[in-house]
Amino acid sequence: MERTAELSLIRRMLAHLAAGTTDEAPAPLRIPAAHHADPVHLERERRHLFRGAPIAAALSADLPEPGRFLALELGGVPLLLVRGADGRVRAFANACRHRGAPLAEGAGLAAGGRLRCPFHAWTYDLEGALAAIPLGEAGHAACDREQLGLRLRPCSEANGLILVRAEGDAPIDAADWLGAVATDLDALGLVGFHFFDARTTSWNANWKLLLETFLESLHVFSLHRETVHPHYFSLPMVADPIGPHLRFPVARRSLAGLRDEPERAWRLVDHATVQWYLAPNALLSATRDYALLWRFESPEPNRARVETRFYTARPVADERERKRFDDAFALQLRVTGAEDFPMQEKIQRGLDAGAAAELVVGTTEIGVVHFHETLAGLIASDARLQRDPA
Ligand code: FES
Ligand SMILES: [Fe+2]
Repeated sequence: MERTAELSLIRRMLAHLAAGTTDEAPAPLRIPAAHHADPVHLERERRHLFRGAPIAAALSADLPEPGRFLALELGGVPLLLVRGADGRVRAFANACRHRGAPLAEGAGLAAGGRLRCPFHAWTYDLEGALAAIPLGEAGHAACDREQLGLRLRPCSEANGLILVRAEGDAPIDAADWLGAVATDLDALGLVGFHFFDARTTSWNANWKLLLETFLESLHVFSLHRETVHPHYFSLPMVADPIGPHLRFPVARRSLAGLRDEPERAWRLVDHATVQWYLAPNALLSATRDYALLWRFESPEPNRARVETRFYTARPVADERERKRFDDAFALQLRVTGAEDFPMQEKIQRGLDAGAAAELVVGTTEIGVVHFHETLAGLIASDARLQRDPA
């Protein structure tokens, strides 16, 4: 983020610490239990959010050179991101135009600059055009090969981030969608980051419950008493909505010491984990030398799939540094996997059993309030657009 924004954030945090205050939402929020348990509501989210909104699917670092690909699913739609020979990233439906087999799984480098279907070896170039039918071509003589390229999906690479929409044809206007987040990502130098490691995990809880654990630090003193609380404050929470997104640094205890330092020496990443909620279902968190991209989805109301990708700001220098990043990633997975997400699984069991009709979110949980208001707004505005395409 820009220097003036960084300094003003630190000043705000120090003022809150001195006064024992925090940023607050204008009003508390009641969330109906059905938002976490109702298949009809999930279908709405699938249509308007997971498939209908631009999703922060990956970083530029995931596709560092032409021929690199990354397979993923958004709202259950299998997609393949590929960096073309022209350097552009494209998103394709990950379904061969012959009989629909996925062209690739996981991540890798397309051998010889070609994507080859594992079923009958139809072969596509990196821009998605059908390049070869190795056997049985005569059987497709009636087809126009020009029409048998991979189906493009809207995709935009900007400021080190790759945005993808699983459905619809309207292009993604990244500058418009990201707003001032773009400036933050540029200042972070996200475009120069390097992929390090990734995990996919599954949980018995709605995706929103899991994502919400990042959006408030109020629980740190209690749920993370032994792990996070020795290093981070529970409050203040400082949060700036940026359109549908949210920027919210979580202060390390060392931040309090900045009071005695000249402002010119202040650096936010030295004393906070800076996080951005990237609407509708992703989260980017950055420290001094690494960043994580989290993405949350639910295949069923009370299940979630979490993608976690870890990136380093510079190439890993040696084994010692590799071990440090391995440990940092393991710690992130351990705290969320042993403390945050199991708590949400228990909450989900209660919701499924009718133990609570609604969840009550206070004004100090400003990130959670923003999150739910954003989702409601995106669902409502997209639903309106789809009813009335004009
Ligand atoms: S399904 Fe891909 S070549 Fe047959
Ligand atoms: Fe947590």
